[in-house]
Amino acid sequence: MACFLVQILVLLYFTVFLTFSSTTNGKFSEKSPMIISTKRMEKMTRLRFYFHDIPSGKNPTNMRIAGPEKTTADSFGSTFMVDSPLTEEPEPTSKLVGRAQGVYAFASQHDAGLLMVLNFAFLEGTYNGSALSILGRSPMSDNVREMPIVGGSGLFRFARGYSLSKTVSSSQKSRNVVVEYNVTVVHF
Ligand SMILES: *[C@@H]1O[C@H](CO)[C@@H](O)[C@H](O)[C@H]1NC(C)=O
Ligand SMILES: *[C@@H]1O[C@H](CO)[C@@H](O)[C@H](O)[C@H]1NC(C)=O
Repeated sequence: MACFLVQILVLLYFTVFLTFSSTTNGKFSEKSPMIISTKRMEKMTRLRFYFHDIPSGKNPTNMRIAGPEKTTADSFGSTFMVDSPLTEEPEPTSKLVGRAQGVYAFASQHDAGLLMVLNFAFLEGTYNGSALSILGRSPMSDNVREMPIVGGSGLFRFARGYSLSKTVSSSQKSRNVVVEYNVTVVHF
């Protein structure tokens, strides 16, 4: 009975709280508290893998598909389609855990700011067949780049989170680049 009463009081508290505690910030934004259903437990998953960008050779992982003519490859508007291996360790020969498939484009007129639209399709273990979707800005001059994870499929349904990435090696000769990704996602 006491427990029931406490529940009623908590409910009342939140109802009153919700009704009276919106905060406004001028015309630009308004924030209201919200009760989120906690019936289903959400999980947090952290993943780490290495992205291999191989621009030339027999099996290049990216292809320039659009952009201004008569300019350098990395100028504003240059757009690339990618299908890059994701591995467990930085070495390209280490275990394949997935593929990054999508598009990146030089979207800044002021610096090397990339628009990234990628799906990480996983191929290994529990997450084989599941995927995460990234949509974000990658400022290439930053040591660590943060991008949002905007969704997922399979075991990653309802996923949201972020990735932190940094270049761990790049070859002058082959121009191959290895990028480390730490991904943190919340999902059901
Ligand atoms: C991943 O799933 C596919 C399709 O179900 C299967 O063919 C493949 O062997 C699996 N890979 C691993 C590493 O389990
Ligand atoms: C990823 O996490 C590891 C372990 O916490 C850390 O050493 C590494 O610097 C992180 N990398 C990035 C790109 O954040």
